[in-house]
Amino acid sequence: MTQVTSTAAETWLRRWDTQQERYIADREERFTVLCDVVEAALADVEQPVVLDLGCGPGSLAGRLRPRLPHATIIGIDSDPLLLGLARSHYTDGITWIDADLGTGDWVAEVPRTIHAAVSTTALHWLPEHKLAELYRTVSTLMAPGGVFVNGDHMGPGDEYLNGLAAVVRRRRAARAGVEDNEDWGAWWDAARTAPELAALAQAREERLVHKDDHNANTLTTPSHAELLRAAGFSSVAPLWQVGDDHILVAVKR
Ligand SMILES: C[S@@+](CC[C@H](N)C(=O)[O-])C[C@H]1O[C@@H](n2cnc3c(N)ncnc32)[C@H](O)[C@@H]1O
Repeated sequence: MTQVTSTAAETWLRRWDTQQERYIADREERFTVLCDVVEAALADVEQPVVLDLGCGPGSLAGRLRPRLPHATIIGIDSDPLLLGLARSHYTDGITWIDADLGTGDWVAEVPRTIHAAVSTTALHWLPEHKLAELYRTVSTLMAPGGVFVNGDHMGPGDEYLNGLAAVVRRRRAARAGVEDNEDWGAWWDAARTAPELAALAQAREERLVHKDDHNANTLTTPSHAELLRAAGFSSVAPLWQVGDDHILVAVKR
């Protein structure tokens, strides 16, 4: 497959960030807090292994790299176009795995012990039974003291409050000046037709990606916490929140 240049990938990545900020105005702060948690939790681990679940174009893995220069960082995603951008831009020792998190196929490709699993804006794509299975798998791989840190929309679990959360999100976007940023559909339309991404777009087209329903409005933070405890994590709590946007942290004892 034709390699996208690092410069072209960088341009698409920055455009991706702008597009994502339309929906998550505090996305950079969320990344920073998430990195703070992982860095602190792994301070005493000599050679940590960190998985980024649903890494997309490497947004979080790429920001973790300078914070954890000694870590093995592995990004997992099933979208060939986004993974292609990650591979082209982040060439500094991050491993990228093309796999569906809704299956256990990726487990054979990662070390038998991990020290952290992180994710941003991705796990809401999985239906609950697949998410529960993923949590169990991650827990089985996790070393004692390891952390699972997930930044994502986790709805309040009530139609009326969902509506209020949407208002909070829109108002926050307006205050941050990101409400008119390029939207998801426009970004994908542009990526699909960009000559430099033609081979990646073709690979994506040939694959059925994300056919599962998402759980953003059905799973609350307490329900995620319950699934994580059932999977073997003990201390579980949200450590950051803006509206329905949370960072949920779970520790394996
Ligand atoms: C909105 S993007 C977020 C990407 C990145 N984490 C970020 O914060 O910019 C959601 C990502 O989840 C990935 N994803 C969704 N369902 C998946 C699955 N079943 N297996 C692997 N990746 C999945 C998508 O391919 C996409 O890259």
